[in-house]
Amino acid sequence: MRFDVITLFPELIEPFLRTGVTRRAFDSGAVEVRVWPLRAYADGNYRRVDDRPFGGGPGMVMLPEPLYRCWQAVRADRGLPPRRAPGAAVDVPTVLFAPAGAVLSHATVARWARPSQPGAILVCGRYEGVDQRFVDACVDELISLGDFVLSGGEIAAVALLDAVARLQPGVLGDADSASQDSFHPALDGLLDCPHYTRPEVWPGPAGPMAVPSVLLSGHHAHIEAWRRQQRLLATARARPDLLAQARQAGRLSETDERWLAQTLGL
Ligand code: ADE
Repeated sequence: MRFDVITLFPELIEPFLRTGVTRRAFDSGAVEVRVWPLRAYADGNYRRVDDRPFGGGPGMVMLPEPLYRCWQAVRADRGLPPRRAPGAAVDVPTVLFAPAGAVLSHATVARWARPSQPGAILVCGRYEGVDQRFVDACVDELISLGDFVLSGGEIAAVALLDAVARLQPGVLGDADSASQDSFHPALDGLLDCPHYTRPEVWPGPAGPMAVPSVLLSGHHAHIEAWRRQQRLLATARARPDLLAQARQAGRLSETDERWLAQTLGL
């Protein structure tokens, strides 16, 4: 799959493609990423990319024309016609990162990560936003990283690329480790359990802290039961909405329910 990132700050994107476990996905081309410097598609000596908002108000708005030219260049590079007829099927989707989008979730990442996906054109907004006419004409989907405002969409684009890359086969060392992550359906959409490594007793700032003894027991079934309980506990505390979803979807066993009732009175 191929992702084209349209941005005013290519230098923010590129280091992430060369770092960490996900580098394998980008280097191998399993997830191909091309970064497009938006300013190169702007006019004049100043290569202006933004202007004041009509109607007044704070900040600047990104001009539609440089975005449109860059978007067309990306489409041409993908061998696609420079524009899509109104109502035509989406050939390659265009995503704009903005606080007004749907919040990115595991389900959305998993959808983008499917090998059958063509990838997407990712547009990173900056300033107060993007002229709505470009959004109406060219954008298929708005994605947000959460209920807060970033200075631009680059961090969100990198978040999506990283999350998609780590779901590609062979990217994580242990073939199974993505399925052991928080939010993964294999773990019923719960949060991950705590992890421990050496030493067995860490001196700690307020005295010795031991690893939970069950993890040293070698008893696989007990370890799995403890991890399940810890996932339930972490989810009940931090994300009761996810616990309610898992319950509603019938993903909690009788053992889970008994443990939640006994331990948390839920
Ligand atoms: N750009 C500005 N804020 C954002 C957010 N919360 N998510 C994605 N892109 C953004």
